[in-house]
Amino acid sequence: MIRVLVTGGAGFIGSHLCRVLLERGHAVIAADSLFSGRKRNILPLMSNPRFEFMRHDIIQPLFIECDQIYNLACPASPVHYQYNPIRTVKVNVLGTMNVLGLAKRCGARMLQASTSEVYGDPQVHPQPESYWGHVNPIGPRACYDEGKRIAETLCRDYHVGNGVDVCIARIFNTYGPHMALNDGRVVSNFLLQALRGEPITIYGDGSQTRSFCFVSDLVEGLIRLMECGERFEPVNLGNPEERTIREIAERIVSLTGSSSKLVEEPLPQDDPVRRKPDIRLAKQLLNWQPSVSLDDGLKETVADFQARVHGHEEW
Ligand SMILES: NC(=O)c1ccc[n+]([C@@H]2O[C@H](COP(=O)([O-])OP(=O)(O)OC[C@H]3O[C@@H](n4cnc5c(N)ncnc54)[C@H](O)[C@@H]3O)[C@@H](O)[C@H]2O)c1
Repeated sequence: MIRVLVTGGAGFIGSHLCRVLLERGHAVIAADSLFSGRKRNILPLMSNPRFEFMRHDIIQPLFIECDQIYNLACPASPVHYQYNPIRTVKVNVLGTMNVLGLAKRCGARMLQASTSEVYGDPQVHPQPESYWGHVNPIGPRACYDEGKRIAETLCRDYHVGNGVDVCIARIFNTYGPHMALNDGRVVSNFLLQALRGEPITIYGDGSQTRSFCFVSDLVEGLIRLMECGERFEPVNLGNPEERTIREIAERIVSLTGSSSKLVEEPLPQDDPVRRKPDIRLAKQLLNWQPSVSLDDGLKETVADFQARVHGHEEW
């Protein structure tokens, strides 16, 4: 049986990943500080004898035995990562070093959850892995963007210098059940506002585009990358289908049957205008591409949000 450590395992993506790994017969340890994740996400897994939860902050070293590590621990939404930017840098630098050190000691293969934010406000569309990015190092998003960039550098250096078996997933916008209600990201914001009948805030005129990947597609991509064997160069995982922000808001209003109206507000600083993954490498290397349509993914997400909002889930 393969023993898998998922840091950030109580978070949005981590909790889905833990469930799928258990379904595939692995033993799974979720290590999470519960900074932005919640136990509720992993509650259904607790009764599985192959699952363990460890409350742990990866800024501190951890000593366990495992064969594979998915390093997902890091606050991922601007609301959470800007709450304490220095801490966000620490998670990405000290935390990633600790997890790489553990991978080295155990001889485990590690997958680093990187992000499309390493491309910043890109000047190349769509973004291939070879693009070096356009990041403001002193802007409000820098703690996350630059943190994730240095985490990639650490992966490269532990791989080249210490022979650590590591791979890097550059994850683009992902959505689905278990997203935090208060994370301020596009889909969760729109859903919450629509379900409460509040005005839906669009930053800018809504013509900026994003591409959204449903979480089950992403999890499949992460597992395929982990299992594809040695390779440390980053691989983009995301949905290349571009949608305008206005289009997403309108779909959500329609799917929730909401009476909310769309209102425009100024764009936040350094908000990228366009972001779209080039996934040719993932297709070729992993035979992977997203298969869940936006409508199907949104329907599952709406059902989850409805249950939580009407069940008065605490934030
Ligand atoms: N969701 C996306 O669209 C997206 C896009 C790109 C990259 N990512 C990356 O994927 C990973 C998971 O993102 P998510 O959307 O599930 O976010 P999330 O906030 O739901 O999950 C992150 C988890 O990490 C935990 N955590 C934070 N700091 C920690 C620490 N110091 N020690 C231990 N645990 C800690 C949180 O409590 C949370 O459970 C993150 O690394 C994120 O940067 C996500």
